[in-house]
Amino acid sequence: MRVLVTGGAGFIGSHIVAALSARGHEPVVLDALLPSAHGAAPTPPAAPWIHADVRDADAVAGALRGVDAVCHQAAMVGLGKDFADAPGYVACNDLGTATLLAAMAEAGVRHLVLAGSMVVYGEGRYDCGRHGRVAPGPRAAADLAAGRFEPLCPSCGERLAPGLVGEDAPADPRNVYAATKLAQEHLAAAWARAVDGRVVGLRYHNVYGPGMPRDTPYAGVASFFRSSLARGQAPRVFEDGGQRRDFVHVRDVAAANVLALTALAERAPGGFRAFNTGSGTPHTIGEMATALAAAYGGPAPVVTGEYRLGDVRHITASSERLRTELGWRPEVEFAAGVAEFARAAQRPVPVPDQRATPAALAAGK
Ligand SMILES: NC(=O)c1ccc[n+]([C@@H]2O[C@H](COP(=O)([O-])OP(=O)(O)OC[C@H]3O[C@@H](n4cnc5c(N)ncnc54)[C@H](O)[C@@H]3O)[C@@H](O)[C@H]2O)c1
Ligand SMILES: [Zn+2]
Repeated sequence: MRVLVTGGAGFIGSHIVAALSARGHEPVVLDALLPSAHGAAPTPPAAPWIHADVRDADAVAGALRGVDAVCHQAAMVGLGKDFADAPGYVACNDLGTATLLAAMAEAGVRHLVLAGSMVVYGEGRYDCGRHGRVAPGPRAAADLAAGRFEPLCPSCGERLAPGLVGEDAPADPRNVYAATKLAQEHLAAAWARAVDGRVVGLRYHNVYGPGMPRDTPYAGVASFFRSSLARGQAPRVFEDGGQRRDFVHVRDVAAANVLALTALAERAPGGFRAFNTGSGTPHTIGEMATALAAAYGGPAPVVTGEYRLGDVRHITASSERLRTELGWRPEVEFAAGVAEFARAAQRPVPVPDQRATPAALAAGK
């Protein structure tokens, strides 16, 4: 199967490229090598690739020639610096997705795997001992500043127990990035209905592993910790470190993408189906920092009490659907994955450059 991996130079995309190649598929890549993700010295993808933006309709049309399916990873990620980043996120993630989908409609490519995110759920699922399932709103800045990090029951103000979110939980995006990830899903679902396309959306949890970008305002928390350790500094843990997340290894996420791509043909046309993609074993941010610092042999983490308004307290979802419907099994266990990540290089990692033109790519088909 020939698969166009958008964002295939990125952290997750590059592992998908490797996983596709290892299983005998033929990845081709379109990536803009965004400076926010790659810095000044980007590493080209390990596959034939086109240096272009997904908003460039002509370049996308060229890259789609001879392609059986698209694995859409290209996006601006993270919380960004401030609200001034909002137009950039919307342009890259939503206009970019719409441009890609229009080109796929035109080219007759009907199979799509979309990189989604658990950020679409907001605070996720909580239970109150007295009121059952509740949905706490965004945390107030005053509470966060006073160190009151736990969302409380909106009815009685009691502490809540966080639970596992299922795919049918209502969406509740809490920041610009989350809003753009949700819009990508809606666009893909509308496309599937309009053209009889087949879409799987994989809602990734906190992905970590080799090749994670160095710390930028756009990177994930594990990469902040890893970068601090590389500088000889203690990882700085925000809030009180008790935030629960599901850290899923990047090779397991890549394997889920390959499974989803190969299973698309069996899905009914015209539909979008979401799958939570997490290890199934939640850990706190503080546990990640402690495990990473120990594996690296660096200074123990410091808990700073700092906070970011767009962050949610706990978000952990059930990935049962991905296991039962697609037969996915995460293979990298937390301690082993963290130990490997502590030793692994962060981006940039040099590989041979296989940059191509659309004509050369099509000729190779
Ligand atoms: N890393 C995580 O924990 C995580 C969690 C949930 C979802 N995701 C999603 O996974 C996907 C990949 O994320 P990542 O962590 O590998 O990020 P990344 O920044 O390492 O990779 C993204 C890649 O996309 C490229 N890109 C961005 N906008 C583009 C555009 N408009 N045109 C062409 N290329 C563009 C970048 O240059 C980069 O190579 C994203 O869609 C992201 O939203 C990631
Ligand atoms: Zn209550």
